[in-house]
Parts: sequence; structure tokens; C-alpha cells
Amino acid sequence: MWARCSAVAVAEPGVVFLRGVSVVLGGGLAGGVGRYRVRGSRCGGGGGGDSPGVWGLRVGIVGEDGAMRAVVVEEFGVLPSVQDVAVPEADPGGVVLRVEATGLCRSDWHGWQGHDSDIVLPHVPGHELAGTIAAVGAGVAGWKVGDRVTTPFICACGNCEQCLEGNQQVCPNQLQPGFNYWGSFAEYVALPFAEVNLIRLPETMDFDTAAGLGCRFATSFRAVRQVGRVAAGEDVVIFGCGGVGLSAVMIAAALGARVIAVDTNPAALELARSYGAADTVQASSDVVQEILELTGGGARVTMDALGSNAIVQDALRSLRPRGRHLQVGLLPDGVQLDVSRLIGQELEWLGSHGMPAHAYPEMLDLVASGNLKPQDLITRTISLDEVPAALDELTAGTPAGVTVIRP
Ligand SMILES: NC(=O)c1ccc[n+]([C@@H]2O[C@H](COP(=O)([O-])OP(=O)(O)OC[C@H]3O[C@@H](n4cnc5c(N)ncnc54)[C@H](O)[C@@H]3O)[C@@H](O)[C@H]2O)c1
Ligand SMILES: [Zn+2]
Ligand SMILES: [Zn+2]
Repeated sequence: MWARCSAVAVAEPGVVFLRGVSVVLGGGLAGGVGRYRVRGSRCGGGGGGDSPGVWGLRVGIVGEDGAMRAVVVEEFGVLPSVQDVAVPEADPGGVVLRVEATGLCRSDWHGWQGHDSDIVLPHVPGHELAGTIAAVGAGVAGWKVGDRVTTPFICACGNCEQCLEGNQQVCPNQLQPGFNYWGSFAEYVALPFAEVNLIRLPETMDFDTAAGLGCRFATSFRAVRQVGRVAAGEDVVIFGCGGVGLSAVMIAAALGARVIAVDTNPAALELARSYGAADTVQASSDVVQEILELTGGGARVTMDALGSNAIVQDALRSLRPRGRHLQVGLLPDGVQLDVSRLIGQELEWLGSHGMPAHAYPEMLDLVASGNLKPQDLITRTISLDEVPAALDELTAGTPAGVTVIRP
């Protein structure tokens, strides 16, 4: 095995005092260099475009052999394997985390299947994560080795028009671990734009719980609360009760909504009920009729928390006039919408993408007060060696509840 770094102190921009770490001369964080394989318009050249353009030293963690274990995808759709790969380094403006826990999200499965054009092979997936800072890049103030953190999977630049308006979840310069570059199904992961995105974990929150806040729980929080504007007393139907859907059930129920959970898996529906669903419906050809009856004419809000053309059609037919549909599940093959229905019924089609770091305090307060219990969603913890089989399992279906990996 190999040692972790013991301390890093940043004295001033470009000058780093190190103990137990190596210093590597490197390029800029935002230039699509080094580990960040950015294509298209996602990120401009170092210092160019809207990117912050921090340049300087790259900070690495010295190990006996500089290697770590990681799940490596070499071919889309072919079972990945656990391999020894190089430990990442902290670019200027970024950090490296020792990954303490990382969730298995269906987006990782989409990536593995080749549904994400940003992924370049070979690739390490993993984007829903929490950990301990192991190295701090030049120019990062306010964070030190040993800090316990999570991050939105959308690591925003903090410097573009969208970021400056508070919409980091749609930052055009965003970098996503596990998509744009190697992610957290590994012992260490690099995170760019640390000052914009890192979120300090409360002392009382364990890493398994915190990992989910990096993607699915936070995504559902924003979708239900901010994008969907769910209010007490509203009928809300969640189609698909995996990580996203069960989080949405818990959050909508905590807001006082009357939640109807839909899934093919009876075990997932049982969990949904325990997290606050008032009714559950086994997915079938009669699902729309059942929802219309349960809601007395249609729901106010529906959410596709799987990503399915059939669910989208059922969801839109389950809404009352002026209802809101939340699209969180990915639809790699697209979808055909009955636009006449959207117009005639004044339905809202609302896409929702992650949640920016500045929106986390409200969610963390609700967790601290016990109104939200993301820890209850975790039904399984596995090792890195078990990840290939767990990814493969998602092709056939989803085991009920959330799976967390401890690398
Ligand atoms: N928009 C975002 O920012 C964002 C963030 C995270 C995840 N996602 C996407 O959200 C989706 C859900 O992710 P997840 O990790 O929760 O998935 P998951 O695999 O954990 O859950 C999917 C659930 O859907 C159920 N299901 C399958 N067929 C169904 C049907 N016909 N009707 C109803 N339910 C059915 C499964 O039994 C399972 O419980 C994925 O597409 C993922 O990529 C999007
Ligand atoms: Zn995810
Ligand atoms: Zn930005």
C-alpha cells in the first residue's frame, strides 16, 4: 500500500509548503489539459473564455508506488475491472479527495453504456461522492487537508454569466467527475474549482449519507422544492423509486405533499411507503387510471425519476390541467411529446439538473433537524471489487434502495 499525504499548506498563490506530498509543474486547471478531458464548448483554454484560468503548480500525493485502485471501463457495455492507476494530483484551484464513500447512480450506468458523449475511454466512473481532502492545489483558500467535504457532481466554474447569477447547475464550463474526467470509483478523486463547489460536512454526518448529497438526494431536493415548487397538500406522483425517486418521495412528503409512488418493484414501493408515500401503485398499463382515481382527476406534479418514454407519456396523462412535470431521469433516446396537450392543458415541462453548492444549507438544515433522513435510503454498502457486478445488475433492474461504495 502507499501513504496518504499528511499536510499541505498554501502560503501564497503559486507557493506551496508541503509535507508528504509531491509538487508537479503543470498546466492550468481550466484548459482541458492534464486529467480534464474537456471537449466542445464545455471549457475554454486556460485563462481564456469564461474560465477562471488559474495557473501554477499541481500538487500530488506521494505514495510508495503512486498508484491507487480504481474501477476502469475500457469498453462501453463491457464489464469494467478494478485496476491500479495513477493517483490524481490537485490542479491550481482544485483539491484531491480521499474518497470515503461514493454512490452508485443510474447515471454511472448510462455512462458505462456509452450514453454520454463526454466520456473518453479508458474511464473511471463515479460522481456522487464524499471524502476527506488529501491535497490542496495552489490558490485554494479556506480548505485544508483533512477537511470532510462533498461536492455537487456539477463542478461549476464560478466565473461565467450563469454562475454569477447563481445558476451553477447549468454552468457552461462545468466539469463532472466520472464524466468529463476520472471519477470517484477510486481511492482518490480530483475536484476542480474547489472554492466554488466544496461543501463542508456537518460533524454529525457520516460519509455514506453525505455521498448521496453529491447527486441524487440534492438533485431531488432542487427538483421538488425549487424547480417543481411543490407545496403542502399537493398530489405529487413519483414514477421510479430508485435513488432519485425515493429521495423525491421523502422530500415531497416532508414538504407536506400527498405522494403517490410508482415502481415495478414491490420492494421499492415498500420503501417508498416507509419514507412517506401516502399511496403506492405497481407500474402497469392501468397506472394512469389508478392515479386519476387516487387524485380525483389528476396530480399537480409528476416526476420521471427513471428516464423512460413510457413514463413520460403516463406522467403527462396523469396531470391535472396546469400541472407541472419534472424530468430528472435521463432520456438518451429522446422522447416524443404531445405538445398540443402541453398547450391545451397549460402543462409545464420542467427539466432539472443537480443543485448548486449555495443551495445546500437549506437541505443540510432539514437533515440536521431530522425532517429529512437521507441516511435511511441506504440499503447496501459494497467495496470497489463489487462495483462491476453492481453496475451490471442495473441493466436488468435496480435493487431497492441506495447502494454506497466504500473504496
Ligand atoms: N437530472 C439530474 O441531474 C440527474 C441526477 C441524478 C440522476 N439522474 C437520472 O435519474 C434517473 C434515476 O436514477 P437513479 O439512480 O435513481 O435510478 P435507479 O436505477 O436507482 O432507479 C430507477 C427506478 O425505476 C424503477 N422502474 C423501472 N421501470 C419502471 C417503470 N416502468 N415504471 C416505474 N418505475 C420503474 C426501478 O425499479 C427503480 O426503482 C437516471 O436516468 C439517472 O441517470 C439525473
Ligand atoms: Zn448521479
Ligand atoms: Zn460557470
